[in-house]
Amino acid sequence: MAILQTSILYSLLLLQSAQNTVATRDDLRYVNPLIGSTNGGNVFAGASLPYGMAKPVADVGGQNTGGFSTDGSKVTGFSHMHDSGTGGNPSMGNFPLFPQYCEDNIVDNCKFPKSARAIHYKNDSVVAKPGYFALTLESGIKAEMTAERRTALYRFTFPRSRAADGSDLNPLILLDLTDLWDSRQNASISLDADSGRIKGNGTFLPSFGAGSYKSYFCADFVNAEVKDSGIWVNDRAGPVQDLFVTRGFNNFYLQGGGYMTFDRPHDGIVTVRVGVSYISTDQACKNAESEVPDSEDAFDDLRKNAENEWKQKLSPIKLTPGGVSDEMISSFWSGIYRTMLSPQDLTGENPLWKSDEPYFDSFYCLWDAFRAQHPFLTIIDPQAQSKMVRSLLDTFKHEGWLPDCRMSLCKGWTQGGSNADVVLADAYVKNLTGIDWELAYKAMVNDAENEPLEWSYEGRGGLQSWKRLNYVPYLDFDYIGFGTNSRSISRTLEYAYNDYGLAIVGKGLGKKDYTTYLSRSGNWQNLYKEDQKSLLENGTDTGFTGFFQPKYINGTWGYQDPIACSALASWCSLTSNPSETFESSIWEYIFFVPHDMAKLIEMVGGPQSFVSRLDYFHTSGLADMGNEPVFLTVYDYHYAGRPGLSASRAHTYIPSSFNATHNGLPGNDDSGAMGSFLAWSLMGLFPNPGQNVYLIIPPFFEAVAITHPETHKTATIRNVNFDKTYKNIFIQSAKLNGKPYTKSWIGHEFFTQGMTLELTLGDKESDWGTHKEDLPPSLSDSVAGYEGM
Ligand SMILES: *[C@@H]1O[C@H](CO)[C@@H](O)[C@H](O)[C@H]1NC(C)=O
Ligand SMILES: *[C@@H]1O[C@H](CO)[C@@H](O)[C@H](O)[C@H]1NC(C)=O
Ligand SMILES: *[C@@H]1O[C@H](CO)[C@@H](O)[C@H](O)[C@H]1NC(C)=O
Ligand SMILES: *[C@@H]1O[C@H](CO)[C@@H](O)[C@H](O)[C@H]1NC(C)=O
Ligand SMILES: *[C@@H]1O[C@H](CO)[C@@H](O)[C@H](O)[C@H]1NC(C)=O
Ligand SMILES: *[C@@H]1O[C@H](CO)[C@@H](O)[C@H](O)[C@H]1NC(C)=O
Ligand SMILES: *[C@@H]1O[C@H](CO)[C@@H](O)[C@H](O)[C@H]1NC(C)=O
Repeated sequence: MAILQTSILYSLLLLQSAQNTVATRDDLRYVNPLIGSTNGGNVFAGASLPYGMAKPVADVGGQNTGGFSTDGSKVTGFSHMHDSGTGGNPSMGNFPLFPQYCEDNIVDNCKFPKSARAIHYKNDSVVAKPGYFALTLESGIKAEMTAERRTALYRFTFPRSRAADGSDLNPLILLDLTDLWDSRQNASISLDADSGRIKGNGTFLPSFGAGSYKSYFCADFVNAEVKDSGIWVNDRAGPVQDLFVTRGFNNFYLQGGGYMTFDRPHDGIVTVRVGVSYISTDQACKNAESEVPDSEDAFDDLRKNAENEWKQKLSPIKLTPGGVSDEMISSFWSGIYRTMLSPQDLTGENPLWKSDEPYFDSFYCLWDAFRAQHPFLTIIDPQAQSKMVRSLLDTFKHEGWLPDCRMSLCKGWTQGGSNADVVLADAYVKNLTGIDWELAYKAMVNDAENEPLEWSYEGRGGLQSWKRLNYVPYLDFDYIGFGTNSRSISRTLEYAYNDYGLAIVGKGLGKKDYTTYLSRSGNWQNLYKEDQKSLLENGTDTGFTGFFQPKYINGTWGYQDPIACSALASWCSLTSNPSETFESSIWEYIFFVPHDMAKLIEMVGGPQSFVSRLDYFHTSGLADMGNEPVFLTVYDYHYAGRPGLSASRAHTYIPSSFNATHNGLPGNDDSGAMGSFLAWSLMGLFPNPGQNVYLIIPPFFEAVAITHPETHKTATIRNVNFDKTYKNIFIQSAKLNGKPYTKSWIGHEFFTQGMTLELTLGDKESDWGTHKEDLPPSLSDSVAGYEGM
């Protein structure tokens, strides 16, 4: 009903603005879930509702972190749950189905283990749309899928095929008690041929975390007569109706599952409805029964419903493309779409504690998502973002810690600081509603004050030294808690920024101790080594002096080459070459002082020196566009009074590194983190998370309008002199609600109050946004040596 009314209203609006607006009615058709489906993007390309738990797609044997990839590898099955864009091991993919014919209808002639059954799909048969995924296997069997919240619905179409004796072949569909990376421990399955139902469950390992999780399914085969059912183990099968498998000696992996065969229906279609659950097999069945009725039209209805839900979620945004390419439009909508695949709404599916609060999972990881994704959800879906924050707090309440990374109900590995703190601070400064702020502050203080025994997956390490020395020391002596004792520089920088978040929330709540955190938020300065130089590998001096360096407990400097952990040197992660900076170089981390860029700029020698440093960083191969720490560096020019350079920098990466091709992402999408970077950049605003600040550049379109889902006010950012060839990318002057506006940034009120920002463009940098009073705020609000442009 509501959807119908909106679309009528919308058609009227379209009529009114038909003059200069490309029809935005069908924005959904610009969403291409295959962007980033190869080359390490690892996106989930299948069918899902917004934040849906059920995520059916074809799983391949190649780059299968998100299930499917367009890397040309073979299909091994069709499974019901996935993550999107993550690194680490492939996530979930539990209990895949696989359709086939057995030669001469002899079951043992079918192929059961993954490697035996893997088969190519027909090139060009792949269709990926919001809420729908389909392909045709080289066997001629077509697989289509769509999803409800906790139910995957498959439609397998078997072409007619005959045995040697001329009789019809009978379709067989197997179910494998496995997941994408064969992490299964124990699993059970039971079959009931009379009702056409297979139930089961298993214990699996999270793809980037500790412990294990249990997963349950309930598969109903509808509109086909079951002929035969049984189980299979390795490559043999038989008419037994129950199976329990475990890990073999030395953790050896045993393969097994169940199958059903059918009389081929006239239309060749066998529909499989798979309910999933983390609670029990019974709940998996109930989920399927309540979400997907037994009806002829179930598949089409479900697909339509999924499309409508996505339309609804994208509806706050209206685009006036201004003649730019369809690829650019597709990049925009697809990036936005991917921000709502994860975290997943598992409310009602959390076996770990009882609560009336929402439960979201696959915060994978907050280290990626705090920077742009959660701020993005805050503008287009504040209700969902508020629920996610409540879920983080409920997790703190029941597990004792805010999550830093979380997947499949397990604690994931911490990459740097306790960045849930930033997500909470961001929600606080943007006035998200429905959040218990006293609880939030308690959770944040817990991160800052109490060191857990295992800080590899919660809280922070080295807190004794952090509090005593005001930095995380190189080779810390820490017997309170344990984690990978590396990353002393990047952890110092992140802890400092996390503490800034505490200070903001604490101050707002009237807490006296906020000054402690304000003071600790300056700790990054203690690792700045004024006389540190940086040479390239061939000995050439980069010409810049002053970098962060590791420091021992005794106050003596240690050493890490500033270019180490960049593309010019070597890769550093938690397990590969652990270093004092995480997944990025000192060259990149030098820019990570989001709350006090003014002080940083002063320390590195003033705005001009800072700008040449940023330019060198972005043009020398030191910047790693494929990973999240780089995001804000694209826009850091704003803090040096050169907002025009942020705009031209963004254009050097879009579309060359972010585009609408299958390999159009420079790195893992990380649950939509890259998608949100792209969406913000194209929209012409970039958040500095945890602060009420959006940095302004011209949108890549003529105009973008965002209607706030709660206040229903529409914020518009519009280019005057828009040039679709992107020669005019420099703001000459701006007007906010019709009045001259010279600041290079704007606050969240822009969205909640629905303001109109009009940017007049030209082809050269101007003095707009360059004066001291126009700079975005910094903790130290003066920049020594700053003289305007
Ligand atoms: C289909 O595409 C894959 C991967 O690009 C390629 O290896 C294969 O040869 C193609 N098959 C045909 C029949 O063109
Ligand atoms: C697997 O099942 C066996 C037998 O019931 C049990 O001893 C073992 O603890 C189980 N292991 C796991 C990981 O569930
Ligand atoms: C797991 O699956 C087996 C086989 O269907 C079933 O007997 C058992 O009750 C299930 N366990 C739960 C907790 O649902
Ligand atoms: C050192 O490497 C840089 C970057 O590749 C290059 O520009 C420079 O010419 C090299 N210098 C020498 C002396 O080889
Ligand atoms: C401080 O500790 C480091 C590492 O143990 C050591 O190399 C250095 O000599 C010490 N400095 C002083 C002044 O003792
Ligand atoms: C698209 O992006 C990818 C990943 O960053 C890049 O490798 C490729 O060159 C880009 N393609 C175009 C046409 O710019
Ligand atoms: C948040 O609410 C406070 C108090 O009503 C108000 O002063 C502030 O402007 C609001 N902030 C935003 C970003 O809307």
